[in-house]
Amino acid sequence: MKIEKTLHSRIKKMDFNNIDFGNQYSDHMFCSEFKNGKWKNSIIKPFGNIMFSPTSLVFHYGQAVFEGMKAYKDQNEEVFLFRPEENFKRINRSAVRLEMPSIPENIFMNGLKQLINIDRDWIPKNYGQSLYIRPFLIATNGVLSANPSKDYMFMIISTPTDTYYKYPLKIKIEEKYSRSAPGGVGFTKAAGNYASSFYPTRLANEKGFDQILWTDSSTHTMIEESGTMNVFFYLKNKLITPKFNDNILSGITCKSILSLAEKEGFFVERRNVSVSEIIEGLQTGKLKEAFGCGTAAVINYFKTISYKGNDFDLPNLAEKKRISLYFKKRLLDIQHNRSEDPFGWRVPLKRYF
Ligand code: PLP
Ligand code: COI
Repeated sequence: MKIEKTLHSRIKKMDFNNIDFGNQYSDHMFCSEFKNGKWKNSIIKPFGNIMFSPTSLVFHYGQAVFEGMKAYKDQNEEVFLFRPEENFKRINRSAVRLEMPSIPENIFMNGLKQLINIDRDWIPKNYGQSLYIRPFLIATNGVLSANPSKDYMFMIISTPTDTYYKYPLKIKIEEKYSRSAPGGVGFTKAAGNYASSFYPTRLANEKGFDQILWTDSSTHTMIEESGTMNVFFYLKNKLITPKFNDNILSGITCKSILSLAEKEGFFVERRNVSVSEIIEGLQTGKLKEAFGCGTAAVINYFKTISYKGNDFDLPNLAEKKRISLYFKKRLLDIQHNRSEDPFGWRVPLKRYF
């Protein structure tokens, strides 16, 4: 792989005490092109603008998929990735559904590891902070007919991060709009899934809600996920999460919490979750906690859930008593190499140079 290092690092301008997600990018980016049926020209180069024909399919028909993952430091500033093979598998599941070529494992993993190694100074040092990594695949072929592109670009960029949602969330159960539908692309990280959520989310924001709790598209009676998070409910002493299906992104954070919870003897249920049982749990006090989880979000608990114009507040538990914060610490401890890693999720990043 070709490596062109920047002569003008921007790291001195990075204020690690005031991290603003997605507003500062590390010095380098990785690019690999898919042309004439072959992957070629893999390169790490200075972060900068890219140029494509205005007819590129990504601009017109939204042939674009992405991933979100993180690199963490431990107290000795050794660097770890968290379950990167899961992101590799998921971007290719997304690519297949969007009729895009699969990314070979060596291109994904070498690009990722070498890029993060070169930009390791951009990984914040503090517990709870990390470098958010954004691999993405876009259609670059310039033919305006509505057919899959012939050419693609796979890229990786990264941005330092700490907390994505800064406070407990007020959530609205959606009854009109849908994020996804059976047979659709809800289970993928297709760029268009996010574009189509912006309008209903703005409407919800204007009414004072932080996020939407999506429900199934035909009946709006079954819970799916929220914003950029999978959701958990601590109901009648059971940790319950909607079972992954066509409509729900199979979150790596969610899967990790489930594995930890099962190993530690919590009662866990992965099943269809109805709006009515959640509302009943809120009314009877049997729903102790509800929270969302995801790579960017980590774990965020909900303070209010609103349904049909009624706001239901969740119990105002002490932080020490919150199952959400227990799992947040369990995950962060594993990610930052502060505890055993019983499932082998941490991938140490060797120093390549
Ligand atoms: N659901 C959606 C729609 C997301 O964008 C994300 C974030 O990636 C998640 C769930 C959580 O997935 P993960 O834990 O793999 O980041
Ligand atoms: C992630 O958590 O990786 C996401 O995809 C969130 C992102 C849309 C900001």
